Amino acid sequence: RPNVRAMDIKDHIRHVPDFPKPGILFYDISTLLAHAGAWRETVRQLADTIAPTHPDILVGIESRGFLVAAPLALALGCGFVMVRKHGKLPGPTVPYTYDLEYGSDTIEIQTDAIRPGQRVVVLDDLLATGGTLNAAIDLCRKVGGEVVAAACIIELNFLGGRQRIDVPVHSIVSYD
Ligand code: PRP
Ligand code: MG
Repeated sequence: RPNVRAMDIKDHIRHVPDFPKPGILFYDISTLLAHAGAWRETVRQLADTIAPTHPDILVGIESRGFLVAAPLALALGCGFVMVRKHGKLPGPTVPYTYDLEYGSDTIEIQTDAIRPGQRVVVLDDLLATGGTLNAAIDLCRKVGGEVVAAACIIELNFLGGRQRIDVPVHSIVSYD
């Protein structure tokens, strides 16, 4: 299996111009996921970053956040909880609606997903404006979680998303 050094992770993230709209540069993790060594190194770095926060629960944000949170939960021995787009989770849920460039989006968590006081780290693939991550953190708190950190693979510094997040945010690679 190929061995991938820390600084090589960027080499495995594909940049797709004009997706999903003209003028948007899309950071595609498909190529990172498809490369066994690069993906293993990414998960390893995230695990090393998150482990010192001693989480009980890792929360993944649908859909690409699931890909990050699920292997990390296994690696760190944590439970894995889903924050999903509206209408996907059965039983009692708590919704959070946030504004997008055009319109809005709603995400949800199951009311009983986290026990009061459990230490939670929220995970996603990418931090852009921070709207999604901020919403997911709020949901975790509403159901009783203590959010101790957030982490992602990619951070887009020029959008300033980090400023909207009131817990320590960790990213593996960033772009200016
Ligand atoms: C993307 C990305 C993050 C979010 C970041 O998800 O995976 O979840 O946007 O943007 P923000 O910081 O401006 O909120 P998307 O809604 O495209 O859906 P997906 O994960 O299901 O592909
Ligand atoms: Mg997403």
